[in-house]
Amino acid sequence: MNSEFDFDTLIDRSGTATEKWEKYQGRDIIPLWVADMDFRSPPAVIQALHERIEHGVFGYTHPPESLVAAVQEHLQRDFDWQVQAEWLVWLPGLVCGLNVLCRSVGEPGDEVITFTPIYPPFMSAPALSQRSTVKVPLQLAGGRWVADLEALERAITPRSRLLLLCSPHNPVGRAWSRSELQQFADVAERHDLIIGSDEIHAGLILDQQIRHLPIATLSPETCRRTITLLAPSKSYNIPGLGCSLAVISDPQLRKRFIKAAGRIVPHVNLLGYTAAEAAYRKGEAWRQALLAYLRGNRDLVEQAIAAIPGLSMSHVEATYLAWIDVRGAGIDNPGRFFEAAGVGLSDGADFDAPGFVRLNFGCSRSLLVEALERIRTALGSTMGTKFHEESIEQ
Ligand SMILES: Cc1ncc(COP(=O)(O)O)c(C=O)c1O
Repeated sequence: MNSEFDFDTLIDRSGTATEKWEKYQGRDIIPLWVADMDFRSPPAVIQALHERIEHGVFGYTHPPESLVAAVQEHLQRDFDWQVQAEWLVWLPGLVCGLNVLCRSVGEPGDEVITFTPIYPPFMSAPALSQRSTVKVPLQLAGGRWVADLEALERAITPRSRLLLLCSPHNPVGRAWSRSELQQFADVAERHDLIIGSDEIHAGLILDQQIRHLPIATLSPETCRRTITLLAPSKSYNIPGLGCSLAVISDPQLRKRFIKAAGRIVPHVNLLGYTAAEAAYRKGEAWRQALLAYLRGNRDLVEQAIAAIPGLSMSHVEATYLAWIDVRGAGIDNPGRFFEAAGVGLSDGADFDAPGFVRLNFGCSRSLLVEALERIRTALGSTMGTKFHEESIEQ
């Protein structure tokens, strides 16, 4: 490919205890499920880790001031967001962050509202925090997933405390527009809800005319009522290094969040800090090349799915995840069906949407082409449909 970075070469991940590949160890199933990518991280990240390892002393480590500055510079440069150093609260992961967030807002018995389908921990975190989850289904309007604001208003009760957003949204791949975010913020203000905004996929906007907009940047009022969750993990493919953060401008809210984390949440591993700083400071050229590659993969998936009768998907604006509607194919258990066809996908039932699957296209193009061929063949034999002979890759 025309880039100084190589996303094409298939890297053998066997022997690294990788969740994604070991699930299907010894079976001919291409794993396109859990959200990590098969690519090596940016060279600058690997280099920084080498240097830190070479030092050889790995004691207790606080967030380096230079990392805090790197995050502030990144938020200012990429999102026009001026953030004070004290607003940042470091976390070893964002599933952890979602759970701390639920515990830090309201009281046991309160309600957390979220749009479904959704990344599963959004639905489990409230229950684990003695809150209840109130689901508001997204709607398909003109082939695009949108929030039903009337349903959102109807879902609000005197116990509603928290609106938990995923922005960009996993699994439907929407990057919420300014007006959509403003509507969410208006609802939150009208009903005095705290906004929890998981923006872990913020660095993965694929459409070039779209910019990620942190909801906290809409106004000082919205910023005050928002807890934003961020991480370099998805954009730079370092989720195994466990370094993420919450941005909380309101001192009371921040205090409650830190108290809820208590002494239960451990420190960030020092290599996570090292990788995060290198990613934010020196990873931009790699991330741009990655986005170009992912756009190609996304286009390929959209083209292939559109050509398979019984399957459909909407345009993926952001993330490396395709959300595919397989209800028209009459398959009982889509996860199992596609595994039997040699492709490991995430079953939509886990996201509160049976009849859908999520496909992770953060992999080399050749592997993706093979997986799409397997899907096409499996559906062809199931539905007795004759497919066009031309290659998906053209
Ligand atoms: C929206 C969202 N939040 C959180 C996570 C997981 O974050 P972590 O690995 O830091 O726990 C994911 C991973 O796919 C995600 O998509």
